[in-house]
Amino acid sequence: MSYWSWDSSLSVGIDVIDGQHRRIVDYINELEVARLSDDRDKVSEVLMGLVDYTRTHFAFEEDMMKQAGYPLSVSHKRVHDAFVAHIDKYLAQHESGKDVARKLMSELQIWLTNHIKNDDRDYAPYAAKVLDKSWLKRTLGKFFG
Ligand SMILES: [Fe+2]
Ligand SMILES: [Fe+2]
Repeated sequence: MSYWSWDSSLSVGIDVIDGQHRRIVDYINELEVARLSDDRDKVSEVLMGLVDYTRTHFAFEEDMMKQAGYPLSVSHKRVHDAFVAHIDKYLAQHESGKDVARKLMSELQIWLTNHIKNDDRDYAPYAAKVLDKSWLKRTLGKFFG
């Protein structure tokens, strides 16, 4: 896999969300660096960070969608949950000694691109309405604080 660079085709038009998606892209690139260095401890560390950050991002989005009254928030959460369960399987395989980083990265890239461009972009017009400064500060603190 070559390094994945963010470009505006992945923007949902909401800075705070774009920033979180960019962080996930960065994590995927860090995973590639760790994988190429053949450092299993580093791969584990980046994998844990990636999974943890992705879960937090999903929780943030779910809170935001709910707050915004987005009509598809329940099915969107279901998509997140299914993906987290899928990633957890990879984590378990990694922990049992299998080399899953490469496959996981390519799946993540495909899944995220598709999810951001379709599902995430769909909530954007609703979410934009609730994203005032005080809500943002409170909610970022709640999930990322
Ligand atoms: Fe997202
Ligand atoms: Fe999402």
